[in-house]
Amino acid sequence: MKKLAIIGSGDLGQQIAWHATSDKQYQVVGFYDDFAGKGHLCNGIPVLGKIEDVESDFGNGEFDELLLAIGYKHFNERMRIFNELKKVAPFGRLIHSSAYVDPSAILGQGVIVYPGCVIDMKVHLQDNVLLNAGVVIAHDSVIGAHSFISPGVKVAGFVSVGNCVSLGIGTCVIDNLHLVDFVRTGAGAVVTENLTEPGLYLGIPARYKKA
Ligand SMILES: CC(C)(COP(=O)(O)OP(=O)(O)OC[C@H]1O[C@@H](n2cnc3c(N)ncnc32)[C@H](O)[C@@H]1OP(=O)(O)O)[C@@H](O)C(=O)NCCC(=O)NCCS
Repeated sequence: MKKLAIIGSGDLGQQIAWHATSDKQYQVVGFYDDFAGKGHLCNGIPVLGKIEDVESDFGNGEFDELLLAIGYKHFNERMRIFNELKKVAPFGRLIHSSAYVDPSAILGQGVIVYPGCVIDMKVHLQDNVLLNAGVVIAHDSVIGAHSFISPGVKVAGFVSVGNCVSLGIGTCVIDNLHLVDFVRTGAGAVVTENLTEPGLYLGIPARYKKA
């Protein structure tokens, strides 16, 4: 079994550790976290060091693959740290065994798919995308790098979602739309037209609320 290290020891990191372990996909050896002390235990799993320690620890064989657990409130760090670390260590993938992934789908490095998701034909999840529980991405849609898709989101076919997009819990996006980078939607939003400006969109139909 491959050894996994997770960047970030907070709630998201602990969820990812749980799914990786309980679904028997990885042996989780520890976390890297700039805000937690080395040796601190999170649900019995140690913090191995700070992010600057990743490169040397990989060289020393401490782990085989990385996953990133920096959430949707910190997109700039989520993107920057992924892009820095992919130069020094390989990112893995965690696709829960209860998810359906069509054989024609393309999944980038570092993609995480929680239980119960459906990823239909010719979907492309770019690097470092996270799909939370029960997300449905219909045929031919693309989810841009680093985007964070909350539980129960439904994206229809031929949709193009930009990079660093956060779709809030239960959001629906109708087909053939484009959402630009750094769009956020609130819980239950229904997106019925292209979202051409970054910022927060709320309601049914989703309307721009604020930056
Ligand atoms: C939109 C959201 C992010 C809140 O953003 P915020 O910047 O803190 O906004 P506020 O709570 O101050 O609310 C701002 C306004 O939007 C309204 N609002 C908040 N969430 C809304 C929603 N989902 N739909 C419609 N209106 C909403 C508030 O009532 C408030 O209205 P007002 O301006 O008339 O008073 C949050 O409500 C939300 O929907 N989060 C989704 C969380 C999620 O998906 N979590 C899953 C993680 S795994």
